[in-house]
Amino acid sequence: MKNIVAANWKMNFDIDKAQSVAQKMAEIINTKAVDVVVCPPFTHLDRLDEVFSSSVIKLGAQNMHFEEKGAFTGEISLAMLQSVGCEYVILGHSERRHIFYEDDEFINKKVKSAKKHGFNVILCVGETLEERKNGRAFDVVKTQLQKGLDGVDRQNVIVAYEPVWAIGTGVSADRDTIEEMHKFIRRSENDVPILYGGSVKAKNAAEIASIDDVNGFLVGSASLDADEFKKIIDEFIKTKGV
Ligand code: 13P
Repeated sequence: MKNIVAANWKMNFDIDKAQSVAQKMAEIINTKAVDVVVCPPFTHLDRLDEVFSSSVIKLGAQNMHFEEKGAFTGEISLAMLQSVGCEYVILGHSERRHIFYEDDEFINKKVKSAKKHGFNVILCVGETLEERKNGRAFDVVKTQLQKGLDGVDRQNVIVAYEPVWAIGTGVSADRDTIEEMHKFIRRSENDVPILYGGSVKAKNAAEIASIDDVNGFLVGSASLDADEFKKIIDEFIKTKGV
């Protein structure tokens, strides 16, 4: 099973700051034990492609549109992403689902299109606090997986479990919750790496990595700091013994 530690920079950094953080990452991250992916805003991809060209770090996008080209104001196609060195794309992130109202059918179209273009797809799933309180966490994740991956072969598919209530809060889900959900996902997704995301940082990385079905992380705010991101990667490698 492939292990992946991915950085989701979300809507942060201007181009110069992005370049300097990326340059530092390229200098200090040399591992081949895990796939390291950085997903900056679209406008920074081209420059970061250059920065990462002689490093182990791969480039990912945070979103895309499933159409090839045409009258889709404000959207970015897969061919455009490919032309700036992108190999990964994050789809179905909870911020896309909740702030931009993307539903499972729409996400499924993106997954299919990204796969057709040879991208590695990181499909995010996860329940809200209300859904968890109502005992619906497993149903929600099951539906997101079934609909999001409907008609999709699993090659180059990565699932990221990101409980919405743990994103950007500074407090990750607890060990038992992560273990239980990753096991649940594993039952239907045998061969797919399952990442955990939601307030991952250097301090809690080892504990989360010690869970069997955690095959990596999707890191938000802690990935904005090159040293912290490297520590998270190191903790993962050390704990997994990979
Ligand atoms: P934080 O690590 O900031 O909680 O964000 C997680 C996330 O949404 C990654 O995609």
